[in-house]
Amino acid sequence: MIRSVIRGSGSALPARAVSNAELAETVDTSDAWIAERTGIRNRYIAGEGETTATLATDAARRALAAAGIDAAEVDLIVLATATPDNTFPATATQVQHALGCNGGIAFDVQAVCSGFLYAMATADSLLKTGMAKCALVIGAETFSRILDWDDRGTCVLFGDGAGAIVLTAEHIAETDAAQAQGIIASRLHADGAHSELLYVDGGPSSTGTVGKLRMKGREVFRHAVVNLADVLKEVLDAAGLAPGDIDWVVPHQANARILDATARKLGLPAEKMIVTVDQHANTSAASVPLAFDTATRDGRIGPGDLVMFEAMGGGFTWGASLVRI
Ligand code: UT7
Repeated sequence: MIRSVIRGSGSALPARAVSNAELAETVDTSDAWIAERTGIRNRYIAGEGETTATLATDAARRALAAAGIDAAEVDLIVLATATPDNTFPATATQVQHALGCNGGIAFDVQAVCSGFLYAMATADSLLKTGMAKCALVIGAETFSRILDWDDRGTCVLFGDGAGAIVLTAEHIAETDAAQAQGIIASRLHADGAHSELLYVDGGPSSTGTVGKLRMKGREVFRHAVVNLADVLKEVLDAAGLAPGDIDWVVPHQANARILDATARKLGLPAEKMIVTVDQHANTSAASVPLAFDTATRDGRIGPGDLVMFEAMGGGFTWGASLVRI
C-alpha cells in the first residue's frame, strides 16, 4: 500500500509584527479584551511586496530544504488560500514558477480556514492513485487585505502568513500499517447552510469587487467546538484509535478558548494542543501548517509521533487528518 509521508515543513511570516497594543492605537479595542477573549497577543501584517504567493514560496523553499528534496522533484502543488494574489491564475502556479518546477500539477483549494486540511487530503489522494510522487501542500493567506479595519469584532482576530509541507508517496507493507509513517486517515465536511455566519461580502461574479470579511463570531464559535470534536472522533474511529493515543493535536488557530473547549470535550490534556494563536493570530488556511512547523522546529513534534491536524472555517467547512510523523 502507499502512504503519503511528511518529509519536511517550512513557514514564512511578513516582516512586520503588530501587537495588540499597537492595534489599539487605531482600532477601538484593548490588549486586555483581545487577550482575554481570544488568547491573541500578536499578529503579522503583510507590507508592500509581500503577497500570498511570496509568503507561500518562502514557506515552500524552507519545507523543501528541511526535507532535503530538490524543487525539481515536485510534481504536485496544492495551495490552500482564500486570498489569492489574483482571481486567476491559481497562486499555486505562481509558486511553481518561482520554484522552477514547471510542468507538474498545480492548483488552489478554497475552503477558507479548513483549506489546509482539504489540500492535504486532496494531495494524499493524488499521491495514492499514482498521479504524482512528490507534493508541496501549502496554506498561505494575506487576510489583512480583506479585513474591514473599522470592524473591531473581526479586524483584531486575523493575521498573515504561510506554512508548507512536503509529502512523498512511499510503499509500505500492510503488516507495518500501525507504526508506519504517513497520513493514516482523513475526513472532510461542509455545510453550506451556515454561509451567512462567516463570508466575504464581494466576489468576481457577484459584485465585481474583492469584498471584506464578515463574521458572527459567537455563532461560529458554537459550531466550531461541536464540529471539531465530532470530526476528531470520526478520524480516530476510522483509524481504530482512541484520544489517548494522540501525541499532539495541531488545531486551526482561531481562538485559544475554542482549543480549550475542544480538548475538554475529547478528554485530552491541554498540553497536547499546539498553540500559536498568541503569536500569529488567525491566519486561516496557513494556521495549521504554521503551527506544525513551529512545533516541529522547536522539537516538540518528532519522528514517530501521532499527530492530529484539525480545522473549521467559512462555508462551513471542517476536517481532520491523523498522521504518523
Ligand atoms: O477561523 C474561522 C473560525 N472563526 C472562529 O472560530 C471565531 C469564533 N469566534 C470567536 O472567537 C469569538 O466569538 C470572538 C473572539 C470573535 C468574540 O468573542 P465573544 O466573547 O463571542 O464576544 P462578542 O462578539 O459576543 O462581543 C462581546 C462584547 C460586545 O460588546 P457588548 O455588546 O457586550 O457591549 C462587543 O461589542 O465585546 C465587544 N467587542 C470588543 N470590545 C473590544 C467585540 N470586539 C471587540 C474588540 N475590542 N475588538
